Amino acid sequence: MIIAITNQKGGVGKTTTSVNVSAAMALMGKKVLLIDTDPQAHSTISTVANPERYERSLYDVLMKRGEKIEDIIVRSNIPGLDMAITKISMAKLEPSLIGEIDGHFRLKDALEVVKSKYHYIFIDTPPTLGLITLNALVASNYILIPIQSSYLCLEGTDDLLETIEKVRRIANPNLKVLGVLVTLYDKRTNLAKDVVERIRRVFGAKLFKTFISKSVKLEESPAYKESIFTYAPNSIGAEQYKKVAEEIMHRAKS
Ligand SMILES: Nc1ncnc2c1ncn2[C@@H]1O[C@H](COP(=O)(O)OP(=O)(O)OP(=O)(O)O)[C@@H](O)[C@H]1O
Ligand SMILES: [Mg+2]
Repeated sequence: MIIAITNQKGGVGKTTTSVNVSAAMALMGKKVLLIDTDPQAHSTISTVANPERYERSLYDVLMKRGEKIEDIIVRSNIPGLDMAITKISMAKLEPSLIGEIDGHFRLKDALEVVKSKYHYIFIDTPPTLGLITLNALVASNYILIPIQSSYLCLEGTDDLLETIEKVRRIANPNLKVLGVLVTLYDKRTNLAKDVVERIRRVFGAKLFKTFISKSVKLEESPAYKESIFTYAPNSIGAEQYKKVAEEIMHRAKS
């Protein structure tokens, strides 16, 4: 099962969700791979010790330089979680692939050899709808959309849904929206409640039942290269991400 965690809006919790949902699944005994496709490399940096010691990264695999994806998968600091690492070099991918006829299919092709080894493969994507995100959507069975509960959170939704439609039409007819996850939720404010109602009007039953609250612990844990489950196992964030992982397992049965 391959799940892209995507929203072209920046700072909505894609990386936080990728890392903590993957960690929750690994804790539940699943074989999990997290693929970092974002040139910012936030999920690599927040889960792997000294990633600069590795010479090769996802860029080299997607540029078909002879590396297989297995060559850039490393054990992360998070128990049970494998990471396909990215570096800033990934920023060169999109310009390098212009005009390549299989440009959208590089990640899908690269995953063929490893996908049967994992129960779940999550793909953390950059805040754009460019070629990197398209590679993720073409390679995935599902897309999970984190949405920050804020005033402008639905701006850009049409572009995202249009992109999903385009990917279905052209390259991956089976791509489904697994769910929409409300993040950075502050239940004390009326605005947050109002915003969730607006999100619900657009996405209906696609909304996950669990929301992710704003939490300092979730913000702190990446600095220690830990998931919320080791950094603050009794926190609200740990409880919520565990529930989201359970909802994902339930929905992604197929
Ligand atoms: N539930 C939360 N509570 C508090 N802070 C959070 C929460 N979720 C994410 N953050 C913080 O908000 C910032 C953005 O989160 P994150 O990096 O996960 O978003 P992103 O969508 O991956 O961003 P980008 O688009 O830049 O890749 C980070 O500093 C992160 O630690
Ligand atoms: Mg990110």
